[in-house]
Amino acid sequence: MRVGVVQFCPLFGGVGRNIAKAVSLVRQAEKADLWVLPELFATGYQFCDRGEVLALSEDTSGPTIDTMVRKAAELGCWFCGGFPERSGRRVYNSAFLVGPDGLEAVYRKVHLFGREKELFMPGDLGFAVHTVAGVRVGMMICFDWLFPESARTLMLGGAQVLLHPSNLVLPHCPDAMKTRALENRVFTVTANRTGSESRVPGETLTYIGQSVIWTPRGEALLRLGVEEERAAAVEVDVRLAAEKRVTPYNDLVKDRRCEFYRSE
Ligand code: ACM
Repeated sequence: MRVGVVQFCPLFGGVGRNIAKAVSLVRQAEKADLWVLPELFATGYQFCDRGEVLALSEDTSGPTIDTMVRKAAELGCWFCGGFPERSGRRVYNSAFLVGPDGLEAVYRKVHLFGREKELFMPGDLGFAVHTVAGVRVGMMICFDWLFPESARTLMLGGAQVLLHPSNLVLPHCPDAMKTRALENRVFTVTANRTGSESRVPGETLTYIGQSVIWTPRGEALLRLGVEEERAAAVEVDVRLAAEKRVTPYNDLVKDRRCEFYRSE
């Protein structure tokens, strides 16, 4: 499978412009089966209040998913990316997985970061695994990286490739995802944004770029720069994710001692 990241600087509220920009970067890149876009890639991230979130949110039959399905059909690929998902009066910080035939799945961010707790509902769907071109993939969003249970749950569910739309502002995630890849023997695909937003008085968010794809062996197949705006893809050999043995004596799944892991 060829999998890629799309890294760019979304303009807040410029939904049409941001989708066009992401798709134009994909068109300039070598082909891939599956592209991962940043968290909230079409709207921007720094909402001032819930009114703005409601105004820019869409349900799963909204124009963002509709457009991305049409682009997937045109380009013969799949897309995973973040969007503010409206469900009645509730809005989730969600990610979609779409292919040429339509919407495959939605993931609702489980671990909300900072002011997201005032703006979004916590995700209520859990971590699920889906099949894209014969490959088992699972979605997590940005801050979920700091909760190893997210990646672990996806691996235990059978995921070979973790799709990770992000808007990272803290410095550690691009490096830390190497550990998520190693400890689960999975590929990880983190797509981050660039630029900064200063829409809320006293809060400037500077996004750290560095979108990265790690192998189950802890090799970075691809890592973009802090400011780079680019779509780039690599080939991943998903058979590597099947081997959970670390030594002839050790297996990452079978050696778990679950009886000692509960502390609540
Ligand atoms: C984040 O979860 N957007 C940092």
